[in-house]
Amino acid sequence: MQFEIWTKSLADLALDCVAVGVFDDGELAAEARALDLRGREKLARLLKRGDFTAKTGETWLIDYEGIRAERVLLVGLGAKSASSRDEISRKTWRRAVTAAISAATRTRITSLALALPRPATKLLSDERFGRAVAELTGHTLYRVNDLKSAKKPRAHALARIVVVAPAKASAAIQKGFSQGSALAGGAALMRNLANLPGNVCTPSYLAKTAQDLAKTYKSLRVKVLGLPEIKREKMGCFLAVTQGSEEPPRFLVIEHRHARAKAAPVVLVGKGITFDTGGISLKDPPTMDEMKFDMSGAACVIGTMKAVAELNLPLNVVGIVAACENMPDGRAIKPGDIVTSAAGLTVEILNTDAEGRLILCDALHYARRFKPEVVIDMATLTGAIVVALGVHHTGVFANNDALAREIVDCGAAVDDRAWHMPLTEEYGEQLKSNFADMANVAGRDGGSITAAAFLAKFTKDLTWAHLDIAGTAYQGGAAKGSTGRPSAMLLEFLLRRATTR
Ligand code: BES
Ligand code: MN
Ligand code: ZN
Repeated sequence: MQFEIWTKSLADLALDCVAVGVFDDGELAAEARALDLRGREKLARLLKRGDFTAKTGETWLIDYEGIRAERVLLVGLGAKSASSRDEISRKTWRRAVTAAISAATRTRITSLALALPRPATKLLSDERFGRAVAELTGHTLYRVNDLKSAKKPRAHALARIVVVAPAKASAAIQKGFSQGSALAGGAALMRNLANLPGNVCTPSYLAKTAQDLAKTYKSLRVKVLGLPEIKREKMGCFLAVTQGSEEPPRFLVIEHRHARAKAAPVVLVGKGITFDTGGISLKDPPTMDEMKFDMSGAACVIGTMKAVAELNLPLNVVGIVAACENMPDGRAIKPGDIVTSAAGLTVEILNTDAEGRLILCDALHYARRFKPEVVIDMATLTGAIVVALGVHHTGVFANNDALAREIVDCGAAVDDRAWHMPLTEEYGEQLKSNFADMANVAGRDGGSITAAAFLAKFTKDLTWAHLDIAGTAYQGGAAKGSTGRPSAMLLEFLLRRATTR
């Protein structure tokens, strides 16, 4: 997709279609009013008839004369905000942009101008505006990589998106376009990986994907550990989870090194359970298929590394992925088994379905060798976080409040929201075991917090945050599939670190 900026009169823009905004009282947004004067106020006349209700995200494509563009796409903006007539919220703007692009893909339109009202720059800077346009485009054009045998439906024709903006904003918007395109590429990779079934997207498949990335991007080095190397690292907890599976495990280390970046790296760690049956503590059948998404954290790490490499961010970033299946088997771990983690701490596995923390504790221990500035792990770790926060916020846990706040702030800035959860000592005490240094579960209450408290025992001298993305990384139901979250939040975090250090 090509993104461009138009700094002159909208009426002089020669392309297939211009998208403009309409409020639900029938009033045209400012850009549309100016444009309509060139076409003898056809839009105003049409709207007076009341055919178009202009609910947020509703669209109407019409032929238009008097301007250089062939068509006008009316996009509903819903109710006008009380404060200012043309000011709209970021939420409305995002819905309107999505609706405009989506409507264009259902036609033969090849070039589309977005001349919608914009949220105030204090709500959405020029750079983030450009980033969001490219991100939303990628998100809207994404088609699930299904394995249906029927011929694929006709592809859309859209190849150019133009935004109308003042010349002084051009450089920042252009920068945002690059960021957003990289983000969209990373998020699409995450979604493709997560959407694939467990019999296709195996640990080896994830490893192959990472190795292929290193062929495309010079800044990336990829190391893949197989079973012998994982044994040599004494990752007893990771080995315990994989031992019930026929599918070989993989441990990935993806490094992005930037020549000019001297600082210690940001390390990202992803949970890569390519299928979670629960093991001997077997899950219930309904929606068990969704446990193919249990590698969403790993997919997000791989996608984010792609975006980082694409932008060649002046940062050192290391992505770590622990990938295996969690299966019931004659050799599988049993409730009550005790294993020794790479850190040397022993763990009594009371519930084999609490496997994510087992693979992550060894991966977090491995992260130490990079002497990281900060470590962020992401995992579809608990059903309890979905009970606590629903599907709108990612749960953020950290052993450093400033880091948690930074992450929450990044999420808020890019509409990929997160919520700071408590993580105090008492939760860790609930993991007491009579037989080992700790148990891997602590009962139902505060389940997402005790899971984080388990990880905290392995990150004591690191600056660390844990993102529980069980509610946000994918959707069930009719629109079942990966959401790409929290790629946008992570990229914002990395972009800030790249400019302030
Ligand atoms: N992968 C699941 C968590 C999960 C549940 C993700 C639902 C998405 C939707 C994780 O491995 C798990 O099974 N957690 C258990 C922990 C429990 C045994 C303490 C859970 O949440 O039930
Ligand atoms: Mn599980
Ligand atoms: Zn799991």
